[in-house]
Amino acid sequence: MATNGGNGAPNYNGRAYPIEDHTYDVIVVGAGGSGLRAVVGCSEAGLKTACITKVFPTRSHTVAAQGGISASLGNMGEDDWRWHMYDTVKGADWLGDQDSIEYLCRNAPAAVYELEHWGVPFSRLENGKIYQRPFGGMTTHYGKGTAQRTAAAADRTGHAILHTLYGAALKHQAEFFIEYFALDLIMDDEGRCRGVIALKLDDGTLHRFRGHTTILATGGYGRAYFSCTSAHTCTGDGGAMALRAGLPLQDMEFVQFHPTGIYGSGCLITEGSRGEGGYLTNSEGERFMERYAPSAKDLASRDVVSRAMTIEIREGRGVGAKKDHIFLHLDHLDPKVLAERLPGISESARIFAGVDVTREPIPVIPTVHYNMGGIATNYHGEALTKRDGNDDSIIPGLMALGEAGCVSVHGANRLGSNSLIDLVVFGRAAGLRCAETIKPNERQPDLPKDSADKALSRLDHLRHANGGTPTAVLRARMQDVMQTNCAVFRTGEVLEEGSKKIHEVVAGLPDIKVTDRSLIWNTDLIETLEFDNLIAQAVVTMDSAVNRKESRGAHAREDFPDRDDKNWMTHSLAWLDPKSFKVTLDSRPVHTYTMTNDIAYIEPKARVY
Ligand code: FUM
Repeated sequence: MATNGGNGAPNYNGRAYPIEDHTYDVIVVGAGGSGLRAVVGCSEAGLKTACITKVFPTRSHTVAAQGGISASLGNMGEDDWRWHMYDTVKGADWLGDQDSIEYLCRNAPAAVYELEHWGVPFSRLENGKIYQRPFGGMTTHYGKGTAQRTAAAADRTGHAILHTLYGAALKHQAEFFIEYFALDLIMDDEGRCRGVIALKLDDGTLHRFRGHTTILATGGYGRAYFSCTSAHTCTGDGGAMALRAGLPLQDMEFVQFHPTGIYGSGCLITEGSRGEGGYLTNSEGERFMERYAPSAKDLASRDVVSRAMTIEIREGRGVGAKKDHIFLHLDHLDPKVLAERLPGISESARIFAGVDVTREPIPVIPTVHYNMGGIATNYHGEALTKRDGNDDSIIPGLMALGEAGCVSVHGANRLGSNSLIDLVVFGRAAGLRCAETIKPNERQPDLPKDSADKALSRLDHLRHANGGTPTAVLRARMQDVMQTNCAVFRTGEVLEEGSKKIHEVVAGLPDIKVTDRSLIWNTDLIETLEFDNLIAQAVVTMDSAVNRKESRGAHAREDFPDRDDKNWMTHSLAWLDPKSFKVTLDSRPVHTYTMTNDIAYIEPKARVY
């Protein structure tokens, strides 16, 4: 417990932690696509908005998105937002909330045109319209044709969007707190979120941000795994803050493996490469996807392609000396197409695999790419929990967006290019909701006296951790367990072992060692705080996966091979006791209704491609 250091600064074990206070109407944590879109909306509405980000905004992980952003613009042939909705519901294996999916797909075209008007340099057709490519699971006429729905800026769409959004955000009055690491949420006794505590990385000062609403847009936790396409910064800081605040995370067992990470480095090769005509082969030179998805073939949904690749490898038809990966061919494509539409991955293949894509196939392997799970929200972005008999109880003052949130449009499996559109559609929705519910500069009640206590005692504890195991060793153990025991295919036995092993990693936490005690540019401390965030989510992921006894989307249980709508068409909720790391599980119903009367709920059926 903190004592007062005399100068008003909280004091832990004789060490004072002075805090600088800030008050805003809205605090956005994270400056990727969803955070920046929310910043634009809130500041445009006259709300005093702060954006706190641990990296410079244009280094946020949205920058790495390649293939494109989905919207039924119909630039390359007929399209309809209702077909996009159908594909998204089916891609999600009927675990998505259909009101949210309707909101996403209806609003997607306007969101892309907004980006165009703000200056995103989309690739163009001869007629000047935005170029759109095919992506996995995207169809016309409710599964009958192939849609070209993914608007692209070559294969650097995320880069183009992120830079444009940062420019748009700078036009308004928002204030950016760059290279500030958010430590914990401030919650009051009524369960309302009142802001965050953050550490400024370059000078070690501590900051308390108070706001009517805090929006977590902190991204996913891909780095809980050994091999992932996610940046090293993807440590799920928002999800872990929610868990420490006693809030649940939803659908954490659903972890997406992207079929084409470069073998050995994990670097992403966009699905857009298959959209442009690329295909996969096994050691026999066979285009094996024809057997697994006779209609969509290489452009089946990601979970389907990743499973097919894994089966080929397991059955001895992998390529390479160890027969442990697959080839992606682009060598038959016109070099002009490669140069114009896929320049980024051509360069990545050369740098990370030593491959000239005009001549040789790229060695690829399913690689962790996206977390479908996160902080449950409604389609306004308001965070939800289940309490007092209410399945959709709003957590006042807290919102979540993007990969940190679970709105849930992606359900059990996200379709490629539905992530960028999720960021901007729901980033905008959150801004609209804040404009509706917050009066600019309205007085805020005083914060609880102990508002910084939990965050600072954790910081002090980790900063002075003096055991025998470096953070990097524990992190490697966690990543190994997740990679081995919570992978593309799962069984009860492997998951139970995974649960035991991940809790053994947790048991090593009291022995953690941080070598540098400084608060200034202390990468060892920051990596430890990030590891602490990752391990919390690794534990809830594993235990949620043990619990779900069916196969749905990315959660493929060999011991329960079928989807079980009767018992499991339901969102998982997982709470974590921050001391014991004991996971408590419950569920809340999937929204089996739409937003409006002009589109009907899409009934579950078998999912074939
Ligand atoms: O393959 C890709 O370009 C990734 C896109 C996505 O995850 O949405």
